[in-house]
Amino acid sequence: MLNGKIAVITGASSGIGKEIAQKLAKEGLLIYLLGRDKKKLNDTAKIVKKAGSQAKVFAFDLTNANEVRKFAHKFMQSFRVLDILIHSAGAVKLDYIENAKVKDFDAQYKINLRAPFLLTQALINPLKNTSGHVIFINSGSGLRSNANWSQYAATKHGLKALADSLRLELKDDKVKVTSIYPGRTATVMQEKVRKMENADYNPSDYIQVSDFADIVINSIKNPSKSADNIKVGKDGVEKYDF
Ligand SMILES: NC(=O)c1ccc[n+]([C@@H]2O[C@H](COP(=O)([O-])OP(=O)(O)OC[C@H]3O[C@@H](n4cnc5c(N)ncnc54)[C@H](OP(=O)(O)O)[C@@H]3O)[C@@H](O)[C@H]2O)c1
Repeated sequence: MLNGKIAVITGASSGIGKEIAQKLAKEGLLIYLLGRDKKKLNDTAKIVKKAGSQAKVFAFDLTNANEVRKFAHKFMQSFRVLDILIHSAGAVKLDYIENAKVKDFDAQYKINLRAPFLLTQALINPLKNTSGHVIFINSGSGLRSNANWSQYAATKHGLKALADSLRLELKDDKVKVTSIYPGRTATVMQEKVRKMENADYNPSDYIQVSDFADIVINSIKNPSKSADNIKVGKDGVEKYDF
């Protein structure tokens, strides 16, 4: 079903993005692996190839708009279609608002929200050409915000808004848009979070990355049809028809 399709995955050098790449690779795709750490991306590429898919590595900083557009340009020189775009790259810094540094807020905004906006925008034509599927790895923090989590949660709430608008904007092109909101998952990011909380990190206390990646793969194989039931009136108001 996914054999021969093309996917782009951000955050493919670590954690959730890497695990999704590994699982998706069993289906025989061409997978573009994005991140900053070339060595780690090459490790993911080896795993992907061993599992039966082709891999292409692109190491660059997704917060750099020119680099994002350069990547999209190169992609579109080879392909007119993109079947699956998965946004997993992200970063977190905890702090109370009264202590938080604006540079940390800016950094999280740039990778958690601005980068998915830029990359989706740059690849929108290939997505439209094949009625592709865009998946946003959001977070429980995209739905509720706890003390100490304001900056990260604000970017993830913003990411929900971005995905919700995109779903409506690309409805007529039948592009599917999915947001997934995981709780704490056992990755390097969670280890960093526990350090920031001055607490122990026991990976077995959290969602296992393999279990979470299974949910993502399932949502790729069985996309919701719900966007078909959303009608936008002349007044711009969404009307649901289930
Ligand atoms: N782990 C959790 O508990 C949890 C819970 C809810 C949601 N999430 C979300 O899940 C997603 C994946 O997180 P994870 O746990 O897998 O984290 P992770 O293991 O720390 O991986 C983060 C990934 O993001 C990439 N990245 C960060 N900044 C980048 C930049 N400026 N340019 C390009 N790539 C960049 C990293 O690539 P390089 O290292 O190569 O730069 C890495 O591949 C994130 O969006 C996160 O917010 C995680």
